[in-house]
Amino acid sequence: MRQKIVAGNWKMHKNAEETEDLLNDLIDKLPNDVEAHIIVAPTFVNLASAVDHLEFTNIGVAAQNMHQAESGAFTGEISADMLKSIGVGIVILGHSERRAYFHETDALLAEKVNTALKHELQVIFCFGEELKDRQSGNHFNIVENQLKDGLFHLEAKDWESIVLAYEPVWAIGTGETASPEQAQEMHKFIRETITSKYNATLAEDVSILYGGSVKPDNAKEIFSKPDVDGGLIGGAALKATDFAAIVAAI
Ligand code: G3H
Repeated sequence: MRQKIVAGNWKMHKNAEETEDLLNDLIDKLPNDVEAHIIVAPTFVNLASAVDHLEFTNIGVAAQNMHQAESGAFTGEISADMLKSIGVGIVILGHSERRAYFHETDALLAEKVNTALKHELQVIFCFGEELKDRQSGNHFNIVENQLKDGLFHLEAKDWESIVLAYEPVWAIGTGETASPEQAQEMHKFIRETITSKYNATLAEDVSILYGGSVKPDNAKEIFSKPDVDGGLIGGAALKATDFAAIVAAI
C-alpha cells in the first residue's frame, strides 16, 4: 500500500564511529509522531551495527546496492542473502551514481530487482533523466524507458515490494531542485505509465519518492504535491537536525 516514506541515502559517508554518532543523534532528534516510514541507508560495513542500534526504534535500515547473483566468485560484492542474514529488509537499486559510475544498465537492474524480490527485500528503485534529456525535452521518454526496462517484466503482485524514487540527475547534489510542479508533473506521468501497463489501482498504490537536493526549506512544498509520497535524501540526511526537519515536513 502507498505510504509516506523519508529515506536517507548516506552514500560513501560516515565511518563506524560517525555512523553510531549520527544514529544516536537521529534517535534523539527525529519526531516520533509522524506517520512516515523513516529509513536510513549507511554503507555496507556499517549496516549490521545500524540494524542492532535501531532495533527498538521505528527507523528502518536499507542497503545502497547489492549484486544480482545469489553467491559466487564476485570479489568485493554483497548478495541479497547476506543483507537478509543481518536483518536488512530494504535495498536501494538503480541510483544514478550506480548507473553513471558503475555502468549499471536497466537490464542489469532488472536482474537485481528479481534477486531482491526472490529474497523478500523491499526495493527502492531509482531512476530519472539527465540534464541533457530535460533540455532536449526527452525526459518523459527516458523515464518511461527506465521504468519499462527495469520493472515492467514484474507481475502485478511483485509491486507490493517496490517503492519508486524519481531522481532527476541534474538535481542530485547540485543544490538545484526540481520545482514542486516539475516533480508533481513527472510523478503523475509515472503513475499514468504504470496504469497503462498494469492498472490504476496498482499505480495509485505505489509510493513514489522524489530525490534531488531536498532540504529542510523546500521539503514541505515538494511533499505537499499529491503524487509525491516522500523523499530520498542525500546530503541533508547526513545531519540529524536537517533530516529531522525534512521528516517533520512530511
Ligand atoms: O539518494 C539521494 C539522492 O542522490 C539525492 O541526493 O539530496 O544530495 O541531492 P542530494
